[in-house]
Amino acid sequence: MSQFQNLVTASRQSAAILEFQAEQVRRSAETPLRRWVLKPVATSTHFKRNLAAGLVLLTIAIATFRVRAAQTTPPERAQPNAIIRPQDMADALRAVIAAEREVYTKVVVQRLVHDEKTIKTSEHWEQDKALPTPCQDLRLGAEAIQTKGAEFSYTLRALRPINPRNAPETAVERLGLEAVARHPETNYYGNETLGGRRYLTAVYADKAISRACVACHNEHPKSAKNDWKLDDVIGGLVVRIPLEF
Ligand code: HEC
Repeated sequence: MSQFQNLVTASRQSAAILEFQAEQVRRSAETPLRRWVLKPVATSTHFKRNLAAGLVLLTIAIATFRVRAAQTTPPERAQPNAIIRPQDMADALRAVIAAEREVYTKVVVQRLVHDEKTIKTSEHWEQDKALPTPCQDLRLGAEAIQTKGAEFSYTLRALRPINPRNAPETAVERLGLEAVARHPETNYYGNETLGGRRYLTAVYADKAISRACVACHNEHPKSAKNDWKLDDVIGGLVVRIPLEF
């Protein structure tokens, strides 16, 4: 064997040794999990095909779910904290009407007519150049708001009124006036159908909140009662809210 051949054989052997050593290093870096499970699975063409098909199916499933969810779920709305019922609306209207009535009676009528005596009240206030009574003031307001197209309405009623037109006109009004006469602090609510339309009818006690109420109602010639006292229930405020539009 020539020296050249020896050299070639030696270099082949050393290349084989180097390759063997490199393989040893590669294997020592592999954990059993990598070597026996992950590597064969990841390199298998079967697995790759299944993985691709799975990803496609998953994408289609997510897309279908999102489309269906968008079709069936109504658009999200903020939940209201409270719902305004017809009764709440009647109570709110009553609060405003009663406050205005109190201000007119105490700040205008009681002060100017009874305390300072600078002007009188009169049912014929226009001819007499006088102030309307608190009850006329309320009626004027109720009539004015009707001309503005309000759907609700309000009026004063009494079981034994000065003016017969203020007597109860419906069964609910009568029941309400009787109820608030017995228990002034408990409001009365009833449903009724008038002219084919359903209404919530609320009745609130109308009390003699000022000496002006007491004096005028006791002195009035057409009054059925002459011994009214402060805080007595003279009648009732009726508020009607339509339940259909
Ligand atoms: C200056 C007189 C006067 C004063 C003050 C007065 N009223 Fe009247 N009130 C009347 C007259 C008159 C009527 C009838 C009005 C009509 O013709 O519709 C009436 C009507 C009423 C009615 C409807 C039933 C009915 O009797 O016809 C009630 C309820 C009522 N008043 C309560 C009160 C209350 C409560 C006060 C005080 C906040 C008050 N009134 C103050 C004169 C007065």
